[in-house]
Amino acid sequence: MARSALLNVMVQAALKAGRRLSRDFGELENLQVSRKGPGDFVSSADLQAEQTIKEELQKARPNFGFLMEESGEHEGADKSHRWIIDPLDGTTNFLHGIPMFAISIALEHEGRIVAGIIYNPATDDLFTAERGRGAFYNDRRMRVAARDDFHDCVIATGVPHLGRGRHKPYLDQLETIMADVSGLRSTGSAALDMAYVATGRFDGYWEEFLYPWDVAAGILLVREAGGFVTDINGGDDMFKSGSVIAANEAIRRHIQHGLKKAQNK
Ligand code: IPD
Ligand code: CA
Ligand code: CA
Ligand code: CA
Repeated sequence: MARSALLNVMVQAALKAGRRLSRDFGELENLQVSRKGPGDFVSSADLQAEQTIKEELQKARPNFGFLMEESGEHEGADKSHRWIIDPLDGTTNFLHGIPMFAISIALEHEGRIVAGIIYNPATDDLFTAERGRGAFYNDRRMRVAARDDFHDCVIATGVPHLGRGRHKPYLDQLETIMADVSGLRSTGSAALDMAYVATGRFDGYWEEFLYPWDVAAGILLVREAGGFVTDINGGDDMFKSGSVIAANEAIRRHIQHGLKKAQNK
């Protein structure tokens, strides 16, 4: 299916920022890195990518607002549209030379995500979706995995790190889910974890303590690939709760059930 003009704008912005990220990835020793909190880093590459994406999107749609990880929220003259941007999801991977990171851009219209892209410049993997028009991986249609036996599933999760999340409840979750599935994985990028659910590589994914920019594009990708995304309680409050479960509906229920069981440990 041909991309809309708007999706093209998003793709062009990501490709431009991605070219620069790829150059920086090859010269990590030249980056300026600072610490936002314990275990939480930001580099000149994150900031430069955010600036490039913002400029490109603003050129095309000057009135839209922004919610961005590094520079926060800016209201636009058009209050009904807002870009939600993570310029570099997986900064820790990036800074360690691990080629698993992504640019995530979503467009929200009246509180609903209507377009989303996730782009990994290191592998040139591009995942796109528009509301009602399906989800695509490098222009091929994506579907979530159809597997419904939880025991056969590979499930992804984000592992809380220094300064992030509560570790004991997470270990209970891990213990419960891993006893039931054939494999657990973690890419270190919430955006890629969700894109991989949309492609069917991962059968499901859960994580807590996330921000809207980590998951906004991923939510649309998974839904447009035929999957289901909820917060940890099965509701629709992913942004406020910071929690996400994504999978086909049978597997999503299994994960939700497992996480509930873990709460009573
Ligand atoms: C992080 C990644 C990671 C997740 C962390 C996020 P960042 O985002 O998405 O997978 O586990 O919670 O903070 O800071 O690299 O953009
Ligand atoms: Ca960050
Ligand atoms: Ca992120
Ligand atoms: Ca980031």
